[in-house]
Amino acid sequence: MSPHAPVLLAEVLEALAPGPGDVIIDATFGAGGYTRAILAMGATVIALDRDPTVQPHADDVANDFPGRFQLIRTPFSGLAGAFAESGEAKLDGVVFDIGVSSMQLDQAERGFSFMRDGPLDMRMSDEGETAADIVNEWDHGPLAHIFKLYGDERQSGRVATAILRRRTEKPFTRTLDLAEVVEKALGGRRGAPIHPATRVFQALRIAVNDELGELRAGLEAAEATLSPGGRLAVVTFHSLEDRIVKAFLTERTGNAPGGSRHAPLAVETRKPSFALRFKGAREAEEAERTANPRARSAKLRAAVRTEAPAWGRVAA
Ligand SMILES: C[S@@+](CC[C@H](N)C(=O)[O-])C[C@H]1O[C@@H](n2cnc3c(N)ncnc32)[C@H](O)[C@@H]1O
Repeated sequence: MSPHAPVLLAEVLEALAPGPGDVIIDATFGAGGYTRAILAMGATVIALDRDPTVQPHADDVANDFPGRFQLIRTPFSGLAGAFAESGEAKLDGVVFDIGVSSMQLDQAERGFSFMRDGPLDMRMSDEGETAADIVNEWDHGPLAHIFKLYGDERQSGRVATAILRRRTEKPFTRTLDLAEVVEKALGGRRGAPIHPATRVFQALRIAVNDELGELRAGLEAAEATLSPGGRLAVVTFHSLEDRIVKAFLTERTGNAPGGSRHAPLAVETRKPSFALRFKGAREAEEAERTANPRARSAKLRAAVRTEAPAWGRVAA
């Protein structure tokens, strides 16, 4: 059984409609749940992931589907380069299943969880700044800013103050240590339905992995790389991500009222680079929501690439 239950799989396959001869990029390989299903429908898959620990899953897939699968280790921002490197001539679909995998969450040593003690890391890859670097080095302002913006933490200033005070005595190195300091700063659990550190951990994870910047870069690369008629499917798990996907598709399908604040004039004269596959976002059915709690916040948006030139930079 896969260590990660793929979310909205049937809906994603319907949106992507992969068939024999098609080339699909699975930009978030993970344990390969989507990839295997796409391969089973006869398409070729170029899988991407920034996490080196997915390699054993990729080896298994390569064994089961020889000649139709390759994994390229890259963040979304390298999608266009990875496609060029693959040697394929056309691209019929791109799918993103944003966020962390169950494997990443379950491995205490990755440092994503405030429930399990581990090093304060939170990197999906093995490069760049860790969560420990951020909480030990960033100033009060930027820390409070990400807690508010990425975590929706109402008491972001209070948490940042507690972190700065504590780190002058001893730097943070462990997840549970940080979770305790955050919990204390927020006045304990007080019967809260979620752990008080949930929002701060989410914010750190988004900042460490530049998740929103990566999503924008990925959408832009998919637009630049998909062939006319190619399908784009994006699954997100929180409102910040969904807002970016919705804004991107609203704009690129020519439905943004008054155009983009980045290119107010150009928008009116540009031809839509995408057509919606369906209106709005699709969500998981009750059975999937019950079987897999991760599916409860999942949203799928999908579109088809038109013949029009790519618009380029994504609106914020
Ligand atoms: C939710 S899991 C995908 C699960 C997969 N659909 C499956 O069925 O097994 C997300 C995966 O995407 C990867 N990922 C997330 N953001 C990424 C990014 N910006 N660039 C490349 N990979 C990313 C993570 O490392 C993780 O393995």
